[in-house]
Amino acid sequence: MGEGVLTPGFVIQDGALACEDVPLERIADAAGTPVYVYSAGAIREQYRLLSRALAPVTHRIHYSVKANSNLAVLRLLRGLGAGVDIVSGGELYRALLAGFTGRDIVFSGVGKTEQELREALAARILLVNVESVPELELLSRVAADMGVVAPVALRVNPEVTVDTPHRYTRTGERGLKFGIPFADAEDAARLATTLPALRLDGLDMHIGSQVVQLTAYQQGLRRLLELYDVLRSSGVESIRYLDIGGGLAVPYDHEAPIDLNAYAGEVLPLATRSGLTLFVEPGRFLVGNAGVLLTRVLYRKRSGDREYVITDAGMNDLLRPSHYNAFHRIDAVRPHTARIIADIVGPVCESGDFFALGRDVENVVAGELLAIRSAGAYGFSMASNYNSRPRTAEVLVDGNRFAVVTERERYEDLVRQETADPHWRTA
Ligand code: LLP
Repeated sequence: MGEGVLTPGFVIQDGALACEDVPLERIADAAGTPVYVYSAGAIREQYRLLSRALAPVTHRIHYSVKANSNLAVLRLLRGLGAGVDIVSGGELYRALLAGFTGRDIVFSGVGKTEQELREALAARILLVNVESVPELELLSRVAADMGVVAPVALRVNPEVTVDTPHRYTRTGERGLKFGIPFADAEDAARLATTLPALRLDGLDMHIGSQVVQLTAYQQGLRRLLELYDVLRSSGVESIRYLDIGGGLAVPYDHEAPIDLNAYAGEVLPLATRSGLTLFVEPGRFLVGNAGVLLTRVLYRKRSGDREYVITDAGMNDLLRPSHYNAFHRIDAVRPHTARIIADIVGPVCESGDFFALGRDVENVVAGELLAIRSAGAYGFSMASNYNSRPRTAEVLVDGNRFAVVTERERYEDLVRQETADPHWRTA
């Protein structure tokens, strides 16, 4: 067991790891493994810290649903006063089911379909974060057709250097698919003000995910405000919102947590001076360390000079190690002193199906439980059915209570939309 406050909702109680006041062994018995376990208290605490840091300005925290889309997690965040940032019609559907209203919703994403734009306008969402000129034109046509005015924020690519652990999670650098290239943003904004069914309400950026270098926020924000000044001086007066995206990093190992005062120091003075309402879109910051993936050791095995710990969770359940080479701490639920160097791998038929390679880990045997830490964000939400593996259950813990908030999929769920007997149609 490592020390520190990596996952504050998870503590050793009576010799074994518990989530708040519920032993993980109890959850494994009740819900089976593998299972995601989330601490409501840890989510509340992260929300509180962020809203306190941003308190000096008028702001709104729009939770990025993609990080963890579970309805009960959404409902919890709604109760705290959050809005949401969505990227698909599916996330809109979830947000509305969880009780958010249109006014709580901003819609990001580089490839929104006409259908999704219609659904968003029908729900009267607060802002569509538009990422290209063709999207502006489509949104204007759709809004005109529906007889409404679409509230638009332009997502601008601020073209700053962003230092994230993997290039897949950088979004605010020159030449990437996200946002409107900075050089084109002024023209796009003017177009937005001339298209009849649009109202230009905001400017937006999202520079990347797992960002530790906080100056990048200020650099990006300066560029947005440069654009804002140019637009205002030429008579554009509708802009009210400044959305600086998500991306705040969380510790996965022994790194220090983000200094929220430093973050506030980078963004608040500029935001205050602009007089605009500040939006942030955190995902990982709110939920990343509030969850673990609880998995049982199936086998130990030696091959060549490697020692393997084979778990009942696989890359289909938690893709991050395989996809981004991401580090997740892994601890035995009942701590050991003896340690081994091992590869911790899943049952999926791919050599890339691993959670850790050559890791110094406790000497666990078959039947024991492991907690894969920091799995609250981009864990279950990126899970798949690869190898026809039913997706795991999800459990939410609050104090000494726990609830299964997603049932484990059954085999029938795997084939629900399929047929073995094609219903042929003629071309
Ligand atoms: N806003 C927008 C427009 C986004 O695209 C994202 C994340 C966020 C906000 C929230 O970012 P966060 O605060 O969670 O860093 N699957 C990757 C992360 C991909 C992030 C995609 N966009 C991972 O597991 O590391």
